[in-house]
Parts: sequence; C-alpha cells; structure tokens
Amino acid sequence: MLVIGAGGAGLRAAIEAAAAGARVDIVCKSLLGKAHTVMAEGGIAAALGNVDPEDNWQVHFQDTMRGGQMINNWRMAELHARESPDRVYELETYGAIFDRTPDGRVMQRAFGAHTYRRLCHVGDRTGLEMIRSLQDRVVQLGIDVHMEVTLTRLLKDGDRVVGAFGYNRVDGRFVAFRCKAIILATGGWGRIFKVTSNSWEGTGDGVAMGFDAGAEVLDPEMVQFHPTGMVWPPGVRGILVTEAVRGEGGYLKNREGKRFMLEYDPKKKELSSRDIVARSIYKEVEAGRGTEHGGAYLDVTHLGAEKIKKKLPSMYEQFLRLADVDITKAPMEVAPTIHYAMGGLWVEAETGATTLPGLYAAGEVAAGLHGANRLGGNSLSDLLVFGRRAGAAAGAYQREVGLGRIDEGQVGQEQETLLLPLAKDGKENPYLLQQALQEAMQDGAGLARDENGLKACLDAVLELRQRTARIHVPGSRRYNPGWHTARDLRFMLTIAEAIVRAAIERRESRGAHWRLDYLDKDAALGRVNFIAYSDGGNVRLKRRPVPEMPPELAKLFQEPAATPAATAQPPASRPPAPKRIPA
Ligand code: FUM
Repeated sequence: MLVIGAGGAGLRAAIEAAAAGARVDIVCKSLLGKAHTVMAEGGIAAALGNVDPEDNWQVHFQDTMRGGQMINNWRMAELHARESPDRVYELETYGAIFDRTPDGRVMQRAFGAHTYRRLCHVGDRTGLEMIRSLQDRVVQLGIDVHMEVTLTRLLKDGDRVVGAFGYNRVDGRFVAFRCKAIILATGGWGRIFKVTSNSWEGTGDGVAMGFDAGAEVLDPEMVQFHPTGMVWPPGVRGILVTEAVRGEGGYLKNREGKRFMLEYDPKKKELSSRDIVARSIYKEVEAGRGTEHGGAYLDVTHLGAEKIKKKLPSMYEQFLRLADVDITKAPMEVAPTIHYAMGGLWVEAETGATTLPGLYAAGEVAAGLHGANRLGGNSLSDLLVFGRRAGAAAGAYQREVGLGRIDEGQVGQEQETLLLPLAKDGKENPYLLQQALQEAMQDGAGLARDENGLKACLDAVLELRQRTARIHVPGSRRYNPGWHTARDLRFMLTIAEAIVRAAIERRESRGAHWRLDYLDKDAALGRVNFIAYSDGGNVRLKRRPVPEMPPELAKLFQEPAATPAATAQPPASRPPAPKRIPA
C-alpha cells in the first residue's frame, strides 16, 4: 500500500495499515517530520472533560456542525467527536507528552467557538509533538519512507487506482509505484494564495491528482483565513500566530487600543469562530483603525512574562527572533492568513474512500468534516480519527484485491507532461506565473469576495492556464526547483479554478465564504454542497444535497447552543471549579 504524504494523517494511516499486516510505503515531498501538521500549534480538540467536566462528544459534535454552518457531513462530525478522545490517549501510548493538570490528567485549553476548554496541548507546539510521536511509531514499525519524492499522477486500471508516478526531487529520476491501494494525505493548498501559513509543499497535489483521475472535489470554495498571522516584517508575513494566544487570554485591539471583538461578538469575544474574528480584523482595517502595517494588535502583556513563556514559548521566540518584539512587553501585530482548506476530495465518512476504487484520502486533502469553517484544534483530531479509519479500510481493501495492471501509456503521457517545460522553447517563467496566480487569488478570491472580483479572478486563472503551455525552464532534471514549480503550478491552477467557480456559484455568505454582494445566508444553498469534477480535464460543478442528519442528532440543534465556559460565568449547575485547575 502506498501512503502519499507524511503529515499526521499519512503517518496515522500508515501505522494502522501496517498494524493490520499491510506492507506500507510512505512517500513525502519534503523531509519526514516537516509537515503542515506542526502549524496546528494550539492543541487537539477532544471532549475529554478533564478541565470542564460537562464536556462530552455531543457538545463537540454540535460545536463542529455549528462552526461549519451545517453544511458539514454530519456522520464525519459524529465519528470525529466520538472518537477523538481515544485517539488522544492512544497518542500518549506512542510517546506524546501533553501538558498536565496538577493532578496529572491531560490539560485542556479554550479555543475559538468550542463551548468548553477542550484542546489537549503541549504548550504551543502540539502539532510538532504529534508528528514526533507518530514518526517514532512509524520508524519502530519499520515502515519505508521515501523522502523528497513528488508524485504527480495516479495510475489507473479501468476505474481502479493501481499506482502512482512522479519524480525524485533531488536527481529528477522518474519513479513509479505499483500498489493495491493508495491513501492520499497530502494536506492542503494554501500556497495558491499570496499570504499563507502554509509552507512551499502546500500546493494541493493530492486533490489535483485525485481530481485528474476522476475523483470528486467537495466545496472547494471553503478556504479558511486564520485570523492571526504575522504581518511585519514583510519576509514573515502570513506565518501563524497560534489561536492559543487568544485561548490563554490574549486581547485583540485596534490602533485606538480598543478591544473590538467585544462589539463584533460580545459573548465569545476573541474566542469567536475564525471566520468571524478574521472578518472583524478586516473591518477594523477597512475602517482605518488598523495597525501601521494593516492588521490588529494581539496583546498578552497583561498575562505576565512567566505565563507567556510557559504556555506560549514558541510565540515568544518567534516574535523575538523574527520581528524583534518581546511579547511580554509589547503587543504582536497580526492579520488574517490563509491557513486551511475545508474543501477537498469527497470521501465516505466511515472509510475515507473516495469515488475511485483503491483511492482513499484523510486529513486536509479530504473534505466533509468541517463544512464552511473549521474550528481550531479540529484538524489534529481529524487527522488522527480519519487517518486511522482510512488506514484500516485501505488495509482491508487490499487484502481482497490483486495487483492491477500498470498502463505504460499513462506513464508515457505523464513523462511527456513533466518534460515539456525543459524541452519547450517558451518564454514563460513558472515563478512569475505562480506569483501572478497567488496575487489574483488573494485579490479576487480572498477573505472578502464579490461577483466582479471572482469573475476577474477566474479570467486571470484561465489566462494563466494557457500561459503554462509556454513555460520554459532552463537546466536539467537534477535538483531544479523551477522545474518542480512548473508541475506544481498545473495542480494549483486546477484547484484555483475549482475554488473560484464554486465561489461564484455560492451566492451567499456562509462561514469562511464571505460575499460582499450576498451578505446573508441563503436557506436553499445551506442545503447544498458543491462538487467539482473533471470533464475531459475541464472543471465542472454540480450541486449535491447536504447529507440529512438522523432525528436523534438533529434534535440536539433544537436547543440553543451552550454558553462558552471560557467566556461566561459558570452555569448554576456546574460544580465549583476544582482548585487543582489553574484559571
Ligand atoms: O492556531 C493554531 O494553533 C492552529 C490550530 C489549528 O489550525 O487547528
């Protein structure tokens, strides 16, 4: 079995498949351990109830569905909420060491739009600890990892996915894998935009490969702006400033020193959902109340140096080293940054199976769980819950099938596509086209959208697509980042087109999709997911009804949402806060 991607989802899937007896190979574009998972810094959302004993899977389920504005796949949200506590405890058995309550239980902190303190964390380095533990387990199990390999095409035998083809990034050698099942765990596509927390790997390869092979892409228009990325100096723009800063009590202020979230969401304040906080910062800047470099201030100075250094050590170092700001003494300057794709490959909730036999997907590359807006911390639990499920299902599938036939014609075609930029006498530079795409997407399909902007963006994307045929890259296949960018760009353009086409069609504002020309929700569109699919290589869209929730779960939404514990007085029924739990 082949697992493409070595972030949390890929590693967890590989562990499960190997434990079930499969021979597993992992391929990653970068080095093992360097994954976007580490950018989920603030914690893993799981209703352990260690700090707020009232928490349970039903409340986590409701928070996730409400956060996703009810276009989520309810079954994924249910499985996620029910299973994430076990996945956290299991991670401990792999060696993860979480922060503890004074009596030794896993500590949990508040995060945006989670009703209770729910995020299990390791300071502000939770994703890193997760990757470290999963990686150790993978190494113990003797799973082969092929680093610095980019796979660019899924190989099919009829409808069935039977292998993958690509190249070794160091020497440019072509590589092919023949396997019974593939799990895509390649993460997201933040690099399509100019300002992002994603590093260079986030070019949407898995979604684009799946799309090219005939799999369906769900709700591509739903792209998350994390409210707080670094703003200054320009070289660090977009780098994540963890939500844990607000979870630990940080205040967002405008240039007048006013805590503006008290107005935008008086109940949840700084711990409102990401879509709302990101929009609020945007509105403050638009109203002329932004900071010098077009953002907001995020202030933790009132927490005291000891707490800051203990709970937010990475942020302390990050600002000191990259921005020359001591956050124990001065506020951080922050602005929204593209962080996460809620859209991705359509998968079956239980198994992570895509619409193609033999192809599975887990983590950010897959869609459904988060709907129109993901809650912070739900990505780490997502990739543990659904990585495990995809590993188990793909393992079971491959026990039932034989190896498929590799079609040399498909391999030859992909080689030709890959070699074109080296052979062609064109004038286009892949870096400049990539930059133009990032700018067009940031301007036209960014945080605030409207029909004119989206249509202009679509024109730009289509024009850039034409121009890719004229890319020329000097040099050879030996470590040649320009050549790599030329292939990445094709993936990025496919996804960009899907994002923009769906964003045009969703004529309403819902979650991360904010349309200035349709500010309200549209009830009919609230029952619809958009599906992008390939029609001979062209991006087409269709609508599919949002899966209907069974009555026993639907009735959970007939009562008003509970008031977040982190921002409200304790409910009368709640026992007094135990002394052992720090405030
Ligand atoms: O802000 C953060 O620490 C990010 C967490 C997440 O995206 O889940």
